[in-house]
Amino acid sequence: MKSNGASPSIALPLLALSSYFFSLAVSDPRITEAGFYCENSTGIVAGNSVPNFIAVMRGISESVIDRRWGNYSLALPPPAVYSLAQCLGDLIQTDCLLCFAKSRVRILPCRPNFGRLYLDGCFLRDDGYDFYNETVDPTHDMLKCSSNSTVPVERAAEFSDRVDRVLRNVLATAVLNKGFAVAGEDEAGGVTGVYALAQCWSTLDAGGCRVCLENATSKARSCAPEEEARAMNAGCFLRYSTTKVHIIIAIASSAAVVTLLVLIDACIGYKKHNKKQVHNSLMQLLASGSKFRLYFKYETLEKATNFFHDSRKLGQGGGGSVYKGILSNGKVIAVKRLVFNTQQWADDLFNEVTLINEIQHKNLIRLMGCSIEGPESLLVYEYLPNKSLDLVLFANNATHILTWEERLHIIIGIAEGLAYLHGGWGVKIIHRDIKASNILLDENLTAKIADFGLARYIASDKSHLSTGIAGTIGYMAPEYLVRGQLTERADVYAFGVLVLEILSGRKNSVYTLGSSSVLQSVWKHYKSNNLAACVDPALRGEFPVLEASNVLQIGLLCTQASMELRPPMSGVVEMLQDKDRVAPQPKQPPFLNASVLFDKSSSGSRTCTHGCPTSS
Ligand SMILES: *[C@@H]1O[C@H](CO)[C@@H](O)[C@H](O)[C@H]1NC(C)=O
Ligand SMILES: *[C@@H]1O[C@H](CO)[C@@H](O)[C@H](O)[C@H]1NC(C)=O
Ligand SMILES: *[C@@H]1O[C@H](CO)[C@@H](O)[C@H](O)[C@H]1NC(C)=O
Ligand SMILES: *[C@@H]1O[C@H](CO)[C@@H](O)[C@H](O)[C@H]1NC(C)=O
Ligand SMILES: *[C@@H]1O[C@H](CO)[C@@H](O)[C@H](O)[C@H]1NC(C)=O
Repeated sequence: MKSNGASPSIALPLLALSSYFFSLAVSDPRITEAGFYCENSTGIVAGNSVPNFIAVMRGISESVIDRRWGNYSLALPPPAVYSLAQCLGDLIQTDCLLCFAKSRVRILPCRPNFGRLYLDGCFLRDDGYDFYNETVDPTHDMLKCSSNSTVPVERAAEFSDRVDRVLRNVLATAVLNKGFAVAGEDEAGGVTGVYALAQCWSTLDAGGCRVCLENATSKARSCAPEEEARAMNAGCFLRYSTTKVHIIIAIASSAAVVTLLVLIDACIGYKKHNKKQVHNSLMQLLASGSKFRLYFKYETLEKATNFFHDSRKLGQGGGGSVYKGILSNGKVIAVKRLVFNTQQWADDLFNEVTLINEIQHKNLIRLMGCSIEGPESLLVYEYLPNKSLDLVLFANNATHILTWEERLHIIIGIAEGLAYLHGGWGVKIIHRDIKASNILLDENLTAKIADFGLARYIASDKSHLSTGIAGTIGYMAPEYLVRGQLTERADVYAFGVLVLEILSGRKNSVYTLGSSSVLQSVWKHYKSNNLAACVDPALRGEFPVLEASNVLQIGLLCTQASMELRPPMSGVVEMLQDKDRVAPQPKQPPFLNASVLFDKSSSGSRTCTHGCPTSS
C-alpha cells in the first residue's frame, strides 16, 4: 500500500460546506445486484484461500483507487488467485470505491471457491486461471430481462427498433472509446425513451471488446419489448432501460464530489490523486482545518482484537459486532466489524464514516479511523471502559447502582448530544436508533451516543423523510412505526422512553402490554399524582422527589403519541438544566390509539385534536 500508519486527513469546516452534503444524495454507487455466480469447483486448497483473497483485494484496490479498475494475481501459496475489478465508466471515484467495497464483501463467502459478481456500478471476478482476455463464456454468461409494465402491443415493433438502434450505437461508440459508452433516444412519437450503457473490461483490446459487446448486444436485443435488459458476459456488461441508466455528473456538484472524495480518501489512506480536480479555494478551506485521522491496516486490527476473539467482544450493535482492541503501543480501542453480505452495508458504512467523521461533540462517540481494504470493513472508535448503558442499567448482578446524580448526568448528556445532532451544528441529523445499548459511558459516566449506521441527513427544506422502517421496537415513535414518517421528533420519542427507563431502572418491553409496560405504569402514576413512585427502588428513596417527578414528566412529554406535542431537543435541554423550572403537563399518554395513526386524512402535520385519549 502507498500508506501505512497515519495519513494526513482533513476536517471539513462543516458549517460552511454543509449545503454540499445534500447533493450527495445525487451520487449513487449503484450497488444493485445484477448477476452473481459462485463457482463450485472441487480440488481447491482451502487453507490459504481467505488470506490470498485479502492479499489480492488489497493489490487490486490500489489500482481501483488510481484508475477505477484493476487486475491482480497471486500464484503462491496455493491456490493461485487471479482477480479483476472494473467500475463502469460513468461512476465517480467515490462511488466506484463504495461499489468495489460492496462487491468484495459480497464475493468473499464464495471461499474457498471463486465467484463473479455484476453490480449495476461495477464488476468483480476472481478465478484460478488467467481469464483477463476472455470475452464470452458459454456456460456462465448471464442475461436478465425485466419489465414492470409491458410496452403496448401496437408500439412493440417501434420500441424494438429503437432498442436495436440504441444498442448498435452504444456498441460502436464503446469500441472506439476505450470500452465505455452511453447512448439513448428520448421519448418521441408516443414511443418511450431507451437508454443504454456498455462497458468492456479494460484488459480487453478493441477487438475483444467488439466480440464481447456484439454477443451481448444480440442477447439484450432479444429482451425487447421488455423495458430493461442486462447482458453480463465474461468480458463486458451491457444494459438498456427505459429509464436513464447512467449518471450525468453536473459540474455544479463537483464540490460535493470532492468533499466526499476527501472523506473517503481519509479512510483509505489515499491522498495525492485528486489535487488536479480539487478547486483551489476549496482545497485551502479543507487544508485549513487539517488534522490527523488514522487509517488502520486490517492486520493491525486483527492482531489488536486477538483475531476477533469472542472474549474481546464488547457487544452487538446495529450493523455489526464491536470488539475491544489493544494496539501495539498499548492504546485501547473499540473495533466495529461491519456485517458483510447485507444490502444495506455500503449505505451504512458510508453514513457512519461521513457522519461521524465530521461531527464532534462531547456526547457523541469519536471515530478514530477505519479500514476498508480487508475482507470486511472495520470502524475504530475510542474505547469506553464502562460499556453501554443497558449493561449498567439492566444487568441482573449490577455491581454499580447508578445514583440519582449519575442518572441525571447521563440523561442531560444524551439530551445535549441529540440537540446537537438535530441542528446544533447547522445540519439536521436524525439518529433513528436511540436506545440504551447505543449509549456508551466513559469513565466519568458521561453519555456518548453511538451507532450512526441508521442516521440520516435531512435537508432543511423537508419536514420529514419517508424511509424504510429501521430501528428498535420499543423505542420507535408511533408515526414512524406505522407510517414510516421520520422526523427528529422520532428521536425525541426514543429519548423519552430512555429517560423513563433510566429513572425506573426497567426496560420498556413491548411484549408485556398492559400495566406492566414502563410507559403505561409511569403514565398511571402520573395520573394519580405519584410520579416519584416510579423511580428505581434500587435508589432506596435517595433522590429529590420534586426534581425526579419533573424529569419523569419531561420523559412523558417526549413520548406523547402525537409528534407535534413533543418538545424539540433544545427545549428538553433547557428544561433539564433549569432545576427551578416546572415542566409543562403532558397532554397525551405515550401509547397508541389506533385512530390517531390510521386516520387516512392525516398527512405529516396531523395533530391529535379530537378523539384523542386523555387517560388510560
Ligand atoms: C457445492 O457442491 C456441493 C456438492 O456438489 C454442495 O454440497 C455445496 O453446497 C455446493 N456449494 C455451493 C456454494 O453451491
Ligand atoms: C493484469 O493483466 C495483464 C494482462 O491483461 C497482465 O499482463 C498483468 O500482468 C496483470 N497484472 C497483474 C498485477 O496481475
Ligand atoms: C454468445 O456467445 C456464446 C458463447 O460463445 C454463444 O454460445 C452464444 O450463442 C452467443 N450468442 C449470440 C447471440 O451471439
Ligand atoms: C487477447 O485476445 C486478442 C483477440 O481478441 C488477441 O489478439 C490478443 O493477442 C490476446 N491477448 C493476449 C494477451 O492473449
Ligand atoms: C420497476 O419497478 C421498480 C420498483 O418500482 C423500479 O425500481 C424499477 O426501476 C422499474 N424498472 C423499470 C424497467 O422501469
